[in-house]
Amino acid sequence: MSHKDSDSVQSHDLTLDVLVRAIGELPAAPHVLARALQLTADTETDINELGHVLSADQSLSARVLRLSNSPFYGRLREVKSITEALQVLGFETVRTVTIAASTHLIYRDMADGNYARTLWRHSLCTAIAAGTLAESYKMGDKESAYIAGLLHDIGKLVLHARAPHLFEKIVLEVVTSGREFCKIESEMLNFDHSDIASLMLSGWNIPSPLVRAIHAHHRQITAETLPANRLAHVVALADDIARRLNICFPGQKPAMTTAIIGDGMPVLDDAQLQSVAGRVRAAFELEVALF
Ligand SMILES: [Fe+2]
Ligand SMILES: [Fe+2]
Repeated sequence: MSHKDSDSVQSHDLTLDVLVRAIGELPAAPHVLARALQLTADTETDINELGHVLSADQSLSARVLRLSNSPFYGRLREVKSITEALQVLGFETVRTVTIAASTHLIYRDMADGNYARTLWRHSLCTAIAAGTLAESYKMGDKESAYIAGLLHDIGKLVLHARAPHLFEKIVLEVVTSGREFCKIESEMLNFDHSDIASLMLSGWNIPSPLVRAIHAHHRQITAETLPANRLAHVVALADDIARRLNICFPGQKPAMTTAIIGDGMPVLDDAQLQSVAGRVRAAFELEVALF
């Protein structure tokens, strides 16, 4: 797929049929993840629903409680139940913790070995960086940025699980040439991991702004297209921060310049990016140990 269509990031040149023929059936949506992503906290029903969904899955709710009790999520006192976690930490945080825990299970169940581990660490670091940047930019939706960061490279995990030999070839090419994953994927497959993620996550009923941002995370964003792609820009910059910290595959270099922005998103110079990266590294070390 061409990467020239920077302002039409919603378009899918790739169809599900073509993708399935190339790499096989896509994984079905894990119920808890899909449900947690759809809940909005707009209604009392949504808040109760999250409690119900979690209570129905004991191992997941145990993980969520463990994460909820970590200093990373700023707990004030020990929480012993999901209901208590919802009261003490709030809906948004519990929902994000649930999404992080169930995404980690996808990574654990779909593939194993070093590649899956590298992908998980990179995704978690990008999530933390995206949340931190959203806060710096005062975007007001830190949670969406975190979730988009967490899922941004899930297409690579699918490729790794469904076509391991091909994925290995792509990784080796990235490591030796330092070229971008998406360029090499496009040459070999005619589509890239952001296309896979976009098709798969659309089928999981994940909110479309998240899917659009994930689909666009390697597309060129200009000052003109920024207003519609702020989340994608944050994910791309967060991806870069993870690369600066070397929490990525060997050979992956920061791809973006600090360049664009405007429209309320100040340019971060190198020193500011370094300072964000320092904070992200510290938060990452704390959080990665919890999974
Ligand atoms: Fe990516
Ligand atoms: Fe990435």
